[in-house]
Amino acid sequence: MKEAETGFGAWMGAIQARMEAALARLLPQAQLAPARLHEAMRYAALEGGKRVRPLLAFAAGELADASAERIEIAAAAVELIHAYSLVHDDLPCMDDDVLRRGKPTLHVEYDEATALLVGDALQSLAFQLLAEHRIADEARTQLEMVKVLALAAGSRGMAGGQQIDLEATGCSLTLPELEFMHIHKTGALIRAAVLLGAACGRELQQNEKPGLDRYAKAVGLAFQVVDDVLDYDASTATLGKTAGKDSKQGKPTYVSAIGIAAARRLAEELRGQAHEALKGFDARSRRLGELADFIVLRKF
Ligand code: IPE
Ligand code: IPE
Ligand code: MG
Ligand code: MG
Ligand code: MG
Repeated sequence: MKEAETGFGAWMGAIQARMEAALARLLPQAQLAPARLHEAMRYAALEGGKRVRPLLAFAAGELADASAERIEIAAAAVELIHAYSLVHDDLPCMDDDVLRRGKPTLHVEYDEATALLVGDALQSLAFQLLAEHRIADEARTQLEMVKVLALAAGSRGMAGGQQIDLEATGCSLTLPELEFMHIHKTGALIRAAVLLGAACGRELQQNEKPGLDRYAKAVGLAFQVVDDVLDYDASTATLGKTAGKDSKQGKPTYVSAIGIAAARRLAEELRGQAHEALKGFDARSRRLGELADFIVLRKF
């Protein structure tokens, strides 16, 4: 069967399995010294998660006719940054969570110092992968990719968004402030996944680039809006992480700011924007469209 004829569920399952194998291969083996750190890195990154960022990288790579071998590396780099962000997000000094991906959080299973070091080491490994493997036709494109990931992970991306989240806990934010926080803490890395996947392939036309970026921004924000909604109305068992924590901890979210019904409507609106942004593309954008639906309609 041709790739284009595969249903979304089968496509998603195949990428998730491929990523599990890739990460298992690319992470240091658990027996390698220091074994406790390597084992903990594998605990954080393997066997869990929806792998939404890798899925987005593969879908965007399809648009640019990129090879799966290249996309896999770019996707692994983004997923390692994501896994690190979760380990640190769960620490007692941040969200103080005990459950992640249906398992005890890393600092509970190991200890806080190990959790800090796991985050440090996963982040380094992500950039090592981008430096070590040939994933773009031009060296300058590859350097640009390193910059895209660095900006998305750093103080003007995810880490900056997390700082805003901590400072805003117990406060209420205006809608523009809330959007700014979400775009940074979650949207930036999602956008990077899309841009990196596409950068593995042919150079996009000048008229294609803005559309892809609009798509990436819409799904990036939608992802965190839905995360807020799910924290409110899904169960701990389906999420594999503690539900209902945002209101308990006084986190400003779209649910606390505009209510559950309006937050759901906003997610729908962003889904519409994502599809709108793909209008200029041919059938190769199909997976990106399906992923926008998955991100907004998911139940976990
Ligand atoms: C959770 O991300 C944290 C946010 C950025 C909202 P995911 O919902 O992608 O978590 P996993 O990877 O599937 O566990
Ligand atoms: C986390 O947002 C965003 C990150 C950068 C990890 P949340 O704190 O809402 O993520 P969950 O709900 O714990 O997964
Ligand atoms: Mg948090
Ligand atoms: Mg959290
Ligand atoms: Mg959340």
